[in-house]
Amino acid sequence: MENMPPEVNRRWLIASEPEGLVSASNFRWVESPVPIPKVGQVLVRNLWLSLDPTQLLFMASGGAAEAAPEGRVIPAQALGQVVDSLLPGFERGEIVQGFFGWEDYTATDGTGFLPMFKVSPETPPHLSLGLFGLTGMAAYFGVVVVGRPEKGETFLVSGAAGGVGSIAGQIARIHGLRVIGITGGREKRDWLLREAGFDAAIDHRSEDVGTRLSALCPDGIDIYFDNVGGPLLDEVLPRLRQRGRVILCGGTSRYEAKVQPSGPQNYLSLVMCNGRMEGLLARDYADRFPEARAELARWLESGQLRPKEDIATGLENAPAALARLYTGANLGKQLLKIADPPIPLTH
Ligand SMILES: NC(=O)c1ccc[n+]([C@@H]2O[C@H](COP(=O)([O-])OP(=O)(O)OC[C@H]3O[C@@H](n4cnc5c(N)ncnc54)[C@H](OP(=O)(O)O)[C@@H]3O)[C@@H](O)[C@H]2O)c1
Repeated sequence: MENMPPEVNRRWLIASEPEGLVSASNFRWVESPVPIPKVGQVLVRNLWLSLDPTQLLFMASGGAAEAAPEGRVIPAQALGQVVDSLLPGFERGEIVQGFFGWEDYTATDGTGFLPMFKVSPETPPHLSLGLFGLTGMAAYFGVVVVGRPEKGETFLVSGAAGGVGSIAGQIARIHGLRVIGITGGREKRDWLLREAGFDAAIDHRSEDVGTRLSALCPDGIDIYFDNVGGPLLDEVLPRLRQRGRVILCGGTSRYEAKVQPSGPQNYLSLVMCNGRMEGLLARDYADRFPEARAELARWLESGQLRPKEDIATGLENAPAALARLYTGANLGKQLLKIADPPIPLTH
């Protein structure tokens, strides 16, 4: 009976705006009737959730244009199964991925930050949300398109043992670059060196990052893939080589700040090195996702790329899983498994 779908819709709502780190008081657990899809909607049974640092921003009311007001379900990238469909093109039993929420059931027309799409039953959910999801897409287009890597260059990545960072570093290594990761803690540092094939790793929690960067990169850094922003970015900017590039993927260290600090102190270093700092939003590369997925699948199959996921279980544990991104407890892409598909998969 364990796999029987619940007859209520268990949901996590936003109770209050986080003050710094997320805490239990920011969330409210409710049990509502299972929604009934309208014409033009599907009813999705959510099976897996992607935990993303930007969910903290979504929770901040009055923040970004797409922020959710208090009381709304926490929005999330999720993978689920269609259990009822009034939307042409989508059938009961199909696996889909899209922007759903921290709840057992979502009635949706499939529009949102990234439109809903079908997932082959052959694709493992953890890869669909991780390597082949926005995580892998940000890493791929960040390195390949924004970074324009050249063999032999020195590539530095922060949040290196996280979802995006661990893939970005491996893509750079596959392109023949020397790869250095900045991460928190010995276990993550050892994983980067032993499993992910990084050339060097810096533990920003126990080591002086500037001193280590000067020792490891006496001739400077060609590409910095920035996932965290903040003081680490300022350490890197003066160490960029001529025509150095900074790929701005995210700023995890800033998302929790109630009052945003002023911008990077050392940005004028870009003048001296004819450098470039460029942001990327993975979803805007959607028309090229098939190309990226094919390349990533080839590297996965050949054993050159080893994606890593950190999987929590149980919808009730979603707030704790999100907090892991801020305490740095996650090693690899943080996911949460809610359930197995309630309807047998057809191949
Ligand atoms: N641009 C896009 O389209 C796009 C798409 C997806 C994700 N992103 C961004 O990519 C970044 C990584 O996302 P992810 O899902 O892969 O998360 P993640 O890196 O797996 O998890 C967050 C990590 O950030 C580090 N961290 C937390 N607080 C920090 C602080 N104050 N200073 C330094 N490091 C800190 C921790 O790693 P350590 O323990 O190693 O410090 C933690 O494990 C995020 O900024 C996210 O918003 C952007």
